[in-house]
Amino acid sequence: MQKKITIAIDGYSSCGKSTLAKSLAKKINYIFIDSGAMYRGVTLYCMRNQLIENGTPSTEKIINLLNEINLSFEYNTKTDKADLFLNNENVEELIRMPDVAANVSKIATIKEVRQRLVEEQQKMGVNGGIIMDGRDIGSVVFPAAELKLFVTASNEIRAQRRFDELIDKGVQTTFQEVYDNLVQRDELDSNRIESPLIQTSDAIVIDTSHLTREEQLNLAYHLYQKAID
Ligand code: DC
Repeated sequence: MQKKITIAIDGYSSCGKSTLAKSLAKKINYIFIDSGAMYRGVTLYCMRNQLIENGTPSTEKIINLLNEINLSFEYNTKTDKADLFLNNENVEELIRMPDVAANVSKIATIKEVRQRLVEEQQKMGVNGGIIMDGRDIGSVVFPAAELKLFVTASNEIRAQRRFDELIDKGVQTTFQEVYDNLVQRDELDSNRIESPLIQTSDAIVIDTSHLTREEQLNLAYHLYQKAID
């Protein structure tokens, strides 16, 4: 039996880390968890329950209602990834919408939200054989992960990829709107007090700007093989 390790993938918004994590997980038969979906799920709950007023989260109220938020994942054979369920409702499509993207980084600054989600993420990883992507996976969630990747790409390329994705889904937006949201989120994610996005010293950097998806996967697979040896 081959050893099952833990793989942590961190990086800025829309750098391709989820796509890479998903394809690597499929290749090596690991569970893939997109931790950003969980922050997006909490954000959607807050938006639906008027817990964000004029862009400002009502932190106390959110903390008091955390126990009302039940998040779970269910594998979707069509997309080859797990869909997020919020209180038993499939919200995978809704959490990708620009209004959720516009609010999620603020919700992700709340210490109690992070504590609760990190606890759930750590439980998912107790048996290894997991690839999780996010912002604090190598630094906070799985600091002992055997393989840590830090994925990057230029701002323009990341914004273009995200814009193309949204247009494909029929969402009305502009390149500039997507670009501005991405830069703003990076800023908040990197400078927040609670577990900011950092590149840990043991993480291996993969710059996806000029790599095809296949090249990224080959590189990650090679690093995985080295890690299990
Ligand atoms: O990966 P994503 O763009 O779907 O993440 C959405 C937001 O959630 C992002 O702006 C930062 C936050 N996030 C986080 O703070 N920690 C994580 N582990 C994952 C995401």
